[in-house]
Amino acid sequence: MASENYSFEYEVFASANELSKEDKALLDAAREFTASAYAPYSNFHVAAVARLTNGELVKGTNQENASYPVGTCAERALLGSLGALFPNEPIETMAITYHNPNGSNNAPASPCGMCRQALREYETRTNHSIRLVLAGREGKVYVIPKASMLLPLGFTGDDLK
Ligand code: THU
Repeated sequence: MASENYSFEYEVFASANELSKEDKALLDAAREFTASAYAPYSNFHVAAVARLTNGELVKGTNQENASYPVGTCAERALLGSLGALFPNEPIETMAITYHNPNGSNNAPASPCGMCRQALREYETRTNHSIRLVLAGREGKVYVIPKASMLLPLGFTGDDLK
């Protein structure tokens, strides 16, 4: 028997004010864009904004549905339009944040498992890592160098071979 260990390094900023100008602008755009979420059921308004390698910004928000499982997360809403508008254009950095009017807003956003899988697929598809800037409306900000770091031992197209 052998055992393996998985760990990864990420940056923790005490607040958005410590970020580079570029990352702060991306996060500000995402914070503003939470207003476009359609979240009448959870009231948890999520936004994701991606800066592509060609400099374009692509945005997504969560889109809920009365039939709950039909709803889509902000990250996958973004990836859906990205795949149609700029197919195969790599993402440089994606800022993800939320507005929770009924609760706390200071913990960094944490992408769900399904979105981690979708982000990982986009990294493979474009052969480019996706840097993540994760934040709430205030408080600490995490910067993760590569989205797939959040999905160790993930399932990929290689597993289908
Ligand atoms: N949500 C996202 O949009 N992204 C995530 O990574 C976590 C959860 C949405 C889904 C649902 O509309 C609401 O947040 C509450 O779960």
